[in-house]
Amino acid sequence: MGGGAEMSLGEEREQALIDAAFAAAGHAYAPYSDYPVGAALLFDDGAVVTGCNVENASYGLSLCAETVAVAKALGEGRRGGLAAVAVVGLKTGAEPITPCGRCRQVLNEVAALGQSDPLVLCVSSAGVRRVALSALLPHAFGPAHLG
Ligand code: THU
Repeated sequence: MGGGAEMSLGEEREQALIDAAFAAAGHAYAPYSDYPVGAALLFDDGAVVTGCNVENASYGLSLCAETVAVAKALGEGRRGGLAAVAVVGLKTGAEPITPCGRCRQVLNEVAALGQSDPLVLCVSSAGVRRVALSALLPHAFGPAHLG
C-alpha cells in the first residue's frame, strides 16, 4: 500500500495509529529537551511498531522516536511494507512536529525496501498534517543507488 499516493488511511485507522504514537510518547526518555516524541509505523499486514525519543547525558547521542521505531522494525526482520507513520510531539499548542532530516532518511530506508511512499501523519495538540514521505524527502538517496 502506498499511503503517500492515497493520502488517507481512513479515519479509524488513522486515529488508531495516532493513539499508538501518543502511547509511545508516554515512554519517552527526554529529561534534557523536555520534548517527548512518539512514533508509530503501520505496516501492510496491520502490524504497528512504535518508538519514542531516547536522550542521553551526552546530548548528541540522543535518538529520535522515528529512528528508534525503524530500528525496532528492521530488528524484528521487517523489510518494507511501510504504509504509514504517525509522529507526535507532546508540546501543548505547538506546531505539528515533522520528522527531522535524519529521520526522513531513516524512514526512507524501510519505505524503499518495499517501494512504498508512506503517508506521514505529523501530530501535535494543535492538529494533524498529512504529507507523503516523498514530499518530505524528494529525490531521496536509497538502497537502489548502491546497486
Ligand atoms: N525528536 C524526535 O524524536 N523526532 C524528530 O523528528 C525531531 C526531534 C526529538 C529529539 C530530541 O530528543 C527532542 O525531540 C528535541 O529535539
